[in-house]
Amino acid sequence: MPCILFLDKIQPKCVKCEIKLINMKAYEKLLLENKAWAREHVQVDKDFFLRLANIQTPEFLWIGCSDSRVPANEITNTAPGEIFVHRNIANLVVHTDLNLLSVLQYAVQQLKVKHIIVCGHYGCGGVKAAMTHSDLGLINKWLRNIKDTYYYNRKELEAIEGINKRADRLTELSVMDQVMNLAQTSIVQHAWKDENRPTLHGWVYGLTDGILHDLVKMDPNTPLDPIYQYDFT
Ligand code: CO
Repeated sequence: MPCILFLDKIQPKCVKCEIKLINMKAYEKLLLENKAWAREHVQVDKDFFLRLANIQTPEFLWIGCSDSRVPANEITNTAPGEIFVHRNIANLVVHTDLNLLSVLQYAVQQLKVKHIIVCGHYGCGGVKAAMTHSDLGLINKWLRNIKDTYYYNRKELEAIEGINKRADRLTELSVMDQVMNLAQTSIVQHAWKDENRPTLHGWVYGLTDGILHDLVKMDPNTPLDPIYQYDFT
């Protein structure tokens, strides 16, 4: 690996490393950039990593799409330690998904997050795929959740001209469904009853302008349809 002594955006790079950088593989550049990133943080705040190593106290759980263009920390300008993150294709909250439920339980019961944000994004490939008749194998089962949202809203959706606009509206409707799915978990309802948190949020991110749109907010103890309401007495 090249030395990082002079790898800095404002300082000149050392001649020896410049030569090596040209032949560097893409993943090697990630490791080198990481060293520069860590060094920059320590220069600003020498205990930055030591503090984070001992405890994390994020206020937010983020449930977002796996899409590489929607990174939670970057688009909210937050630092490591501020957001607990779960990502999957098309940011779904599926009540049999052990991965999501484990993240949710840990975030709510141990980290005691105050807010849970479901963040979709316009131009979502998962949402668009769910609107087609393509057989995608295993992923059919995952996208089936979005097909159900389409089905229950098909009148509104099919009145929209243009496949992209229709997909964007389906993205919004799906985000609202996922927020409702969160509210219907015993994990969230328990915390609502005992600690009057977390607040649930549904947002959509615009890939073309970088802006987050606030779609829906559900405060603790919002009444739900009785069939989804757990009785903890
Ligand atoms: Co997506």
